[in-house]
Amino acid sequence: AAPAPNRTQDRSAAHVAGPAQVVFANEPDTDPSLPANQKWVREIIAEATAPGYLENRPAAPSVATTDDLDAMIARGRTAAQAWREMGAAARGEILHRAAEIFAARRGEFIAVEAAEVGKMPSQSDPEISEAIDFIRYYALHALELEKLEGAQFHPDEMVVVTPPWNFPIAIPTGGTVAALAAGSAVIHKPSKPTPYCSALIVDCLWEAGVPRDVLQLCAPIERELGQHLVSHPDVDRVILTGASETAALFKSFRPELHVNAETSGKNALVVTPAADRDLAVADLVYSAFGHAGQKCSAASLGIMVGSTYDSERYRKQLIDAASSMVVDWPANLSATMGPLTEDPSDKLRRALTTLEPGETWLLEPKQLDDTGRLWSPGIKDGVKPGSFFHLTEVFGPVLGLMHARDLDEAIELQNAVDFGLTGGIHSLDPEEVREWLDRVEVGNAYVNRGITGAIVQRQSFGGWKQSSVGLGSKAGGPNYLMLFGHYTDDPATL
Ligand code: ALA
Repeated sequence: AAPAPNRTQDRSAAHVAGPAQVVFANEPDTDPSLPANQKWVREIIAEATAPGYLENRPAAPSVATTDDLDAMIARGRTAAQAWREMGAAARGEILHRAAEIFAARRGEFIAVEAAEVGKMPSQSDPEISEAIDFIRYYALHALELEKLEGAQFHPDEMVVVTPPWNFPIAIPTGGTVAALAAGSAVIHKPSKPTPYCSALIVDCLWEAGVPRDVLQLCAPIERELGQHLVSHPDVDRVILTGASETAALFKSFRPELHVNAETSGKNALVVTPAADRDLAVADLVYSAFGHAGQKCSAASLGIMVGSTYDSERYRKQLIDAASSMVVDWPANLSATMGPLTEDPSDKLRRALTTLEPGETWLLEPKQLDDTGRLWSPGIKDGVKPGSFFHLTEVFGPVLGLMHARDLDEAIELQNAVDFGLTGGIHSLDPEEVREWLDRVEVGNAYVNRGITGAIVQRQSFGGWKQSSVGLGSKAGGPNYLMLFGHYTDDPATL
């Protein structure tokens, strides 16, 4: 794909600071209102949807046997020593170079992600900015690890990164780069549907100068090989983003393995009578249906407090906003919602096609073609406390509305789920907001904003309760790198 033209109107010097960046600044997204950018995206999508686009790209090398994996682990551990000894500043130089390469290859990322998982550019473009942010942010923070007073940081030697398919650029880049910045070697194992996104990420990092033995890539592997990899005594840590069941499985393979996992979510946005209705509806709809609801952070529940539940204006506005979404991508480049990446799971199919007792459709989802993956958005009304839809992550384009008498009950409903990833409140009443912030049990609590799209440094990302396994710190936040190793007293201070 062609390199990006002048993508934004506000590319100030601070935004484009490359290898010399010493103060972190978020990478700006592409401005979709510029005609030059619209043309650029059209060309990218034409390329990505041409026959054979992915097959003609470099693929991740396949791993056939446990011996192959053992050799990779041994190579990585040996290479880790020089990588660690190089120091954070020298590693950071390579990583800052990688950030520039990601920026220059933005169009290629958009194309590969569109071809591989059907993600639309409006969703993938911010994801690429986030990946660039992770690289620069962790490169800078690695310097801090070496400066901790009275402590000496010992990075892990071998980290395995097993990312998800729903954010196959930002999340795999984040985990990989955090480990590299801290001084560890990495084996990057893509999720099954996204080997080409992972191959592109790793290629950019190699191009920047990360040694090939320090960062190794393998094609997605079958379960027995996966088990061998995460059970291996020479693997120090696994960074996982996926289902809570997978994190538990990894721990069951080898209890002493460090598993740091960001897992499932069942997220709610609370709307009180003191909300700005237009904002609340827009944020609820975007958070529920962005990327067809396939985000761990997505709003699956709208908890409508008091009069907001029965308000005809809310109902009409929600139905209008959701039903006006155009779901016809990539055939229609102006579409606002794309397809599911995989066939609906049993849970999602149940949510899309079945009403539980007491529920009605405010907007019934429709299967739009015979791939089984293109669905119009659905809104369920009358979701009951303790029901399947109240408590279960479904990961697709269905929003359920619940009624709460007052804020107190809304918080109880929100906290009743086992997960605690994201959550939000729409209210212009500071007392309500304070009360909610005090009591809500989620890692990312958003006020008068949608509940997806955390921004590196501004909204570090991570869950609470069963949304998080072995994580005391959040991705894109100041303490994340400390996960990748351990401390001893600094001999100089003894
Ligand atoms: N980091 C992603 C978001 O915040 C999951 O939506």
